[in-house]
Amino acid sequence: MTGNPYQDDRGNNDRSITKDGHAGSREVVLPGKAATGAPHKDGPFLIGDAMTGGYGSGADILHGCTLAVNPGEIAVIVGPNGAGKSTAMKAVFGMLNVRSGAVRLKGEDITHLTPQARVAKGMAFVPQTHNIFTSMTVEENLEMGAFLRRDDIKKTIAQVYDLFPILGDKRRQAAGELSGGQRQQVAVGRALMTQPQVLMLDEPTAGVSPIVMDELFDRIIEVARTGISILMVEQNARQALEIADRGYVLVQGANAFTGTGAELLADPEVRKSFLGG
Ligand SMILES: Nc1ncnc2c1ncn2[C@@H]1O[C@H](COP(=O)(O)OP(=O)(O)OP(=O)(O)O)[C@@H](O)[C@H]1O
Ligand SMILES: [Mg+2]
Repeated sequence: MTGNPYQDDRGNNDRSITKDGHAGSREVVLPGKAATGAPHKDGPFLIGDAMTGGYGSGADILHGCTLAVNPGEIAVIVGPNGAGKSTAMKAVFGMLNVRSGAVRLKGEDITHLTPQARVAKGMAFVPQTHNIFTSMTVEENLEMGAFLRRDDIKKTIAQVYDLFPILGDKRRQAAGELSGGQRQQVAVGRALMTQPQVLMLDEPTAGVSPIVMDELFDRIIEVARTGISILMVEQNARQALEIADRGYVLVQGANAFTGTGAELLADPEVRKSFLGG
């Protein structure tokens, strides 16, 4: 035990939902399902179920799109530019009008809740862009992330610094002065400040080097090991599917392929069309 919940296996002692290191995924028994494969009455922990919708009164971008994740799992969404990956994340987080379909958390219909109400229910979202306050210090960014909390946040800040030690070193520096990878750490750290059960990340490794990407993925795996669900969009499809318990390929606002990360990596059609062969 390290005393750091992002390093210990807290809350995720059920080996059926944990991952074997970095080696990719294997058959996962979902806590939302009985061992027989019969669906649990509440379904997955978080699901955007057959979501259809678009921006304002504009045309639909999502066409019956479904995304789901269970505790301690990493679910990865990949697909071409403009496929609607970010739109689907916004729909799950309540930033988009879902015209049909539903979003359910722990079986509760949250389709009509505001994003803030979803945060109060345990969801956190790191958007693709503008995900930090660049003129504020690293620590102020973390404090802003805890805006809904009335209890002592010092311990959570310390946990974020344990997860991302460089942020502790740079806590008094303006976040805008940090490197791309460090800024993404600030964004993830800020989201963790609400102590979420579900962490939604839209392209957390955008614009970072392959080494920094690997490090970020390792930290994301650590977070998932604590029992937090990760729903993540990634443009580095191959690497992300390697750490994914479930993967979704979205094309034109709809699910084109769904499976475990390993299944998608092995699928000849997915490889040819989306993974460069
Ligand atoms: N705020 C918006 N208002 C209107 N249309 C939008 C808005 N944001 C995105 N769109 C449109 O929705 C479609 C899907 O965009 P989205 O950003 O969800 O794709 P994406 O899969 O995340 O792409 P990328 O890989 O480039 O991030 C595109 O046609 C885009 O032009
Ligand atoms: Mg996007």
